[in-house]
Amino acid sequence: MQVELENIQPIRWHDDVLELLDQRLLPAEQKYIQLDNVTSIANAITDMVVRGAPAIGITAAYGVVTAARHRYTESSIKWKQTIQNDLEVLLASRPTAINLFWAIDKMHHVIDGLDGDPVEVLLNAAMQIHQDDIDANKTMGKLGAAFISAGSGVLTHCNAGALATGGYGTALGVIRSAWQENKLNKVFADETRPWLQGARLTAWELLHDNIPVTLVAEGAVSALMSSGQVQWFVVGSDRIAANGDVANKIGTLAGAIQAKHYDVKVMVVAPTSTIDMVVKDGADIPIEQRGADELLALSGQSVAAKGCEAWNPVFDVTPASLVDVIVTEKGVIELPNSAKIAKLMQS
Ligand code: MRU
Repeated sequence: MQVELENIQPIRWHDDVLELLDQRLLPAEQKYIQLDNVTSIANAITDMVVRGAPAIGITAAYGVVTAARHRYTESSIKWKQTIQNDLEVLLASRPTAINLFWAIDKMHHVIDGLDGDPVEVLLNAAMQIHQDDIDANKTMGKLGAAFISAGSGVLTHCNAGALATGGYGTALGVIRSAWQENKLNKVFADETRPWLQGARLTAWELLHDNIPVTLVAEGAVSALMSSGQVQWFVVGSDRIAANGDVANKIGTLAGAIQAKHYDVKVMVVAPTSTIDMVVKDGADIPIEQRGADELLALSGQSVAAKGCEAWNPVFDVTPASLVDVIVTEKGVIELPNSAKIAKLMQS
């Protein structure tokens, strides 16, 4: 099969090799790197060459294809055993985004049913995951935009756009759709310290699509909300627990609390591959801690007082009670709770 790629392509499979747009270099440079072994693919996820929950899952699926090619060439008899190591390496690349585990689990099932050369079948499975994600984003874009009234302002956090997915985006998919429907008065993105996904990636990709965007510091969010310019806080998610608690980029919780105070609605946009029915509530979602250097330095330049320590959890959990609507490709859930999520997942 062929994936119908969108305008902005964070992930592509070209000449039998995985290519990733190096998101560490954006917006200054648009450069693809080619990866032809599982260790380099896992490192690319860990080092955030590619990031965003659905994009991490898709990358891992192509990682499984790459691993299978190597293992099957080594031994057409033992490859199903030896590839298990590679799956472990991919699984260990980042802990919070459930899409990583979901995608590898899907590929594992395909492996179990295989007989003979695995590459073409696995490549088709990875491409299907990729295509399904793009299609889901388009569906969610329309479903989410339906909640937004004409003349609204929206604020988004981190980058839940084309760059974080197979293409089009989750939160930014809704913003793209609402923009196309002429509903948006203004789009705000916050910087998203410390990695600056908002300033570097969200602002870049919205401008790329000619959608005007205004950047704010995270410290300006209360002032922005109190000014009445924003009616919706629209975000993606890395993992949604069975009760509707939402793990997303650090600062989402603060934004949701501020939204509650200022009567701004909170919309979480995520495919059902982000919902983890095994995790009962947000307390059980593993939260990734990253290196202090991400906080203490900016673009390699030290910005903090020498000798100071840093605490750098890169996700937080917003309780379901602060979420007005979860938008998935299977439908929307207003005021989410366990029963509503279970019903959606069974549909
Ligand atoms: O650390 P990152 O950049 O991978 O975190 C990404 C986010 O938190 C996104 O908002 C989330 O994955 C939703 S992406 C559609």
